Amino acid sequence: MRLIIKALEHMKVLTVANRKGGAGKSTCAAHLASEAVRSGLKTILIDMDPQKTLEMWWGKRDEENPYLIDTNANDLPKSIETLREKSFDLCIIDTPGDASQNAISGIKVADLVIIPSKPTAPDLSAIGRTISMVEESNKAFVFIITQGIVRAKATLQAASVLSQFGTVAPAVVSNRTAYATAMGLGSSACLLDKQAEGEIQQVWDFVKARLFEEQKSNKKKLTT
Ligand SMILES: Nc1ncnc2c1ncn2[C@@H]1O[C@H](COP(=O)(O)OP(=O)(O)OP(=O)(O)O)[C@@H](O)[C@H]1O
Ligand SMILES: [Mg+2]
Repeated sequence: MRLIIKALEHMKVLTVANRKGGAGKSTCAAHLASEAVRSGLKTILIDMDPQKTLEMWWGKRDEENPYLIDTNANDLPKSIETLREKSFDLCIIDTPGDASQNAISGIKVADLVIIPSKPTAPDLSAIGRTISMVEESNKAFVFIITQGIVRAKATLQAASVLSQFGTVAPAVVSNRTAYATAMGLGSSACLLDKQAEGEIQQVWDFVKARLFEEQKSNKKKLTT
């Protein structure tokens, strides 16, 4: 008899990291969380940054999903195991803009690391330090260009520079006031700006495929 066993629906962990401050980590984490919820995923946030930007955004929301838990660098692996048993689909971890234990512990539990980067020379020339930090934990990563000026040469050049080191998301998170406004309101720029909605949806579709496609291909056929 042939049994087709569906792979266990494991929760995926998405960690947002960049050792450079102000790269757009918390803004990406919040907006991807909003899209994940819109796609029907039961999502939980962990804010490993003592600045608590993501937690402040979450605190302004009325909806239950995304959920949020507090933990620390030591307890994070255990917290993730507990969440896996609680039927969450996705955990999004925001990390501080440094190489502290809080940042490293967030990377260590990730299925995929997102590295947001501004398309500027100082940010691009510092990116190697973040890549090394992620590679030390042997984690898959992708880049997202953030705060890009629409149609500016620097934005296109940044994609070409970053693509030498890894995959770059197919859409740029552009510099739009809607993102900063949404962060202050606990909302999403997608509800305030059609163009932001378009680019965030493209970035989310790309991230979602990276995170969950492997799970589909892991379906196992067993014979008895
Ligand atoms: N796409 C964007 N358009 C306009 N402003 C943005 C965008 N992304 C981020 N910002 C603004 O840039 C600043 C830094 O963004 P954010 O807090 O997301 O970066 P971060 O990498 O989390 O910073 P930190 O390292 O301090 O945690 C914030 O004021 C935010 O509102
Ligand atoms: Mg932040």
